[in-house]
Amino acid sequence: MPYALQALLCGLVMFAALASANPDDISAEKKSDADIISSSIKKLNSIVHKKGHSDCEKCVSALEFGHDLAKTAKTGIVTQVMTKFCKIHASSKYARDQCDYKFGLSTVNGSAFGDDITNVLTLIEPKSIDSQYICHHFLNGACPLPETPSFDLSSWWPKKPEDARQPDPSGETFNVIHISDFHVDLDYEIGTEAKCSQNMCCNSWKFNEDSKHKVLLPAQAYGSYQCDAPDSLLQSSLSNVADVGKDRDFEFAIFTGDMVDHDDIQYLSMENAIETEKLVYSSMKTHLNIPVYVTLGNHDTYPYAQIAQEKSGFVNRFSWNTDLAYDMWTDSNWMTEKEAANVKEHYAGFAVTNKRGLRVISLNANMWFLENYYNYWQVGQDPDPSGLFRFLSDQLLECEKQGLRAWVMAHVPMGGQTGNAFAPATQVFTQIIERFSPHVVAGVFFGHTHRDEFQILYSKNATEKVAENAVNVAFLDESITPYKWYNPGWRYYEVDAKTFQITNIHHYYMKLNETFTEVPSINDTETIKPVWEYSYSSRDAYDPKGQWPKDAPLNATFWHNVANMIRDDSSYRQLYLDYSYRHSPYVPTCDDGECIKNLYCYVTSFTVPQVIQCLAEDKSSTGHHILAILGSIVLSTITWIVLAVVSIVVAGTVFIYFRFGKGSEYQRKPVTAKRGDYVSLN
Ligand SMILES: *[C@@H]1O[C@H](CO)[C@@H](O)[C@H](O)[C@H]1NC(C)=O
Ligand SMILES: *[C@@H]1O[C@H](CO)[C@@H](O)[C@H](O)[C@H]1NC(C)=O
Ligand SMILES: *[C@@H]1O[C@H](CO)[C@@H](O)[C@H](O)[C@H]1NC(C)=O
Ligand SMILES: *[C@@H]1O[C@H](CO)[C@@H](O)[C@H](O)[C@H]1NC(C)=O
Ligand SMILES: *[C@@H]1O[C@H](CO)[C@@H](O)[C@H](O)[C@H]1NC(C)=O
Repeated sequence: MPYALQALLCGLVMFAALASANPDDISAEKKSDADIISSSIKKLNSIVHKKGHSDCEKCVSALEFGHDLAKTAKTGIVTQVMTKFCKIHASSKYARDQCDYKFGLSTVNGSAFGDDITNVLTLIEPKSIDSQYICHHFLNGACPLPETPSFDLSSWWPKKPEDARQPDPSGETFNVIHISDFHVDLDYEIGTEAKCSQNMCCNSWKFNEDSKHKVLLPAQAYGSYQCDAPDSLLQSSLSNVADVGKDRDFEFAIFTGDMVDHDDIQYLSMENAIETEKLVYSSMKTHLNIPVYVTLGNHDTYPYAQIAQEKSGFVNRFSWNTDLAYDMWTDSNWMTEKEAANVKEHYAGFAVTNKRGLRVISLNANMWFLENYYNYWQVGQDPDPSGLFRFLSDQLLECEKQGLRAWVMAHVPMGGQTGNAFAPATQVFTQIIERFSPHVVAGVFFGHTHRDEFQILYSKNATEKVAENAVNVAFLDESITPYKWYNPGWRYYEVDAKTFQITNIHHYYMKLNETFTEVPSINDTETIKPVWEYSYSSRDAYDPKGQWPKDAPLNATFWHNVANMIRDDSSYRQLYLDYSYRHSPYVPTCDDGECIKNLYCYVTSFTVPQVIQCLAEDKSSTGHHILAILGSIVLSTITWIVLAVVSIVVAGTVFIYFRFGKGSEYQRKPVTAKRGDYVSLN
């Protein structure tokens, strides 16, 4: 999350800055723009230095001021106040430059957020939970993370049918491609610095601080591990997908987002976004020749990660993107104009039913991405500001009525960790998926993390992670981009023709480092052909002894077993990480308790509150663990006393027996069994 940190730092300066001035002063008499700017800054300065106020209080009153200012002053004034103030408090030249890119007008300075922040300032209710969330996420935790609002969605649907069950597998399967996260860098240049001090490398303007005039590690023809994908990698990956498809007969593909590169915001532009999206759409069309269902990622918009809800009044700012999607997708025959009717009104989301009767529902995940400023208003009042979740639940309800099965796809996963999805939205989404699982929702698909991963949805708010509570699972796809430290990879699913559940996953990858040359040249793309290899099948890799029934899908129960093995078995865990990174030279190890806990919580949490709960719980369950051990020692002490007593009794009995009658060995049995029980408690 390269931008998260920058956003935090800059947000810190800005919101701390916009503190506690008296709004009346701004609007009162007619003031020149310069007057408004200088008086705002003056007041903000006094706020920042206000004694006895906590960071949270300062931040909240800053937002109150910002709200009033944004409602009365022109956007250009607000952005100037923010930028100027940011610069006064910037601690370095770098931070000072960033002020323009954060708070300037996006039409003037790269992907600056000034217009969008100003828009959102007008929308927020500063005395509400809105401010708490903004101050938490953009002010480095100035306010504590508020308790996630719980919404009762039961009015959205009738009660779950008593007889809701999923169909039996047909035994017949078909194949579907899943690709994700191309992140094509149009400015990629072979031979430039691939070991740069900036975020993303391999552009002419990237350099290493320690070696400004000599490239330390030259950018390679098909990509480097700290860079996004050159066009050569995009084309190579898609031609591999097409090759594999020759005898797999792929019926359609899902693409879970992120076409645009990771460059710093000052180098982004709307033209770059449009050009990149066009290139990716048209390349997929050329190579694959089957319908591709696309969902937009956090990089596939402009400014970065921003999209406004219909009801905010700012949605037109982003319609170029949905118009482009509509035009390119219908032009490619990925969907008919009738099917694409949703696209313009649902932020490029849609629902289509394929020829086999599977409904594929796609959602624009920026509506729950943490870095979209437009997610921070009416947080406590409205579970669904964009209408996108109601669209999803209505679609699923329709499927339930018609006996159809559905797949749900989006870019940003809901659970796993706390830094991606907005907590309130994760609880709304998860309620919907649970209501319609497993009888309607046959698959949930995400991208975004660049790793090959999964996340399990447990019922009962994941309070008991047992097999019976595992109701669904999300599949997170490996990326094509090697950024950062991965080998490029993709997968296809074997899908049951009736249940539409995943029966197996086949993964392909390319050993990027094998394409490297000592002195990379532009001619390398002619002379070097990347080798794409079959990597593994999920069923074989994670069930090596073949214990999972051959006719059973890789459903939530299967992944529940995998999650437990990842937690409990270090070589299995390493195998998972090797695959997750596609055997790149940078596969991490995960052996200490903290890392294992994080990994286990990652794969077993479907909402942000569940992640937090899991991480906290594990600590106390370590406590429980110690208690259990202590308990067992105490208990076994008691056992030994009992055993001793029993032995004496037995000895006496045996003695008496041998003196007077038949044997009774069974008497020792209960004691032994009890000791065994204590052992297994540890
Ligand atoms: C845009 O960014 C440049 C480079 O930092 C800066 O000099 C300029 O003042 C900025 N312009 C505006 C209008 O923010
Ligand atoms: C997954 O499949 C197994 C085997 O058919 C079945 O016992 C289990 O209930 C299924 N789990 C879910 C969540 O549907
Ligand atoms: C690339 O190939 C062309 C034609 O063979 C040649 O003229 C050129 O010098 C080569 N460039 C490099 C950098 O090797
Ligand atoms: C590429 O990386 C893998 C994984 O670290 C390593 O085993 C292999 O030897 C490397 N290949 C080359 C050509 O460096
Ligand atoms: C689920 O649990 C979390 C923390 O354990 C809690 O914050 C949240 O409100 C719960 N969600 C629901 C819908 O009950």
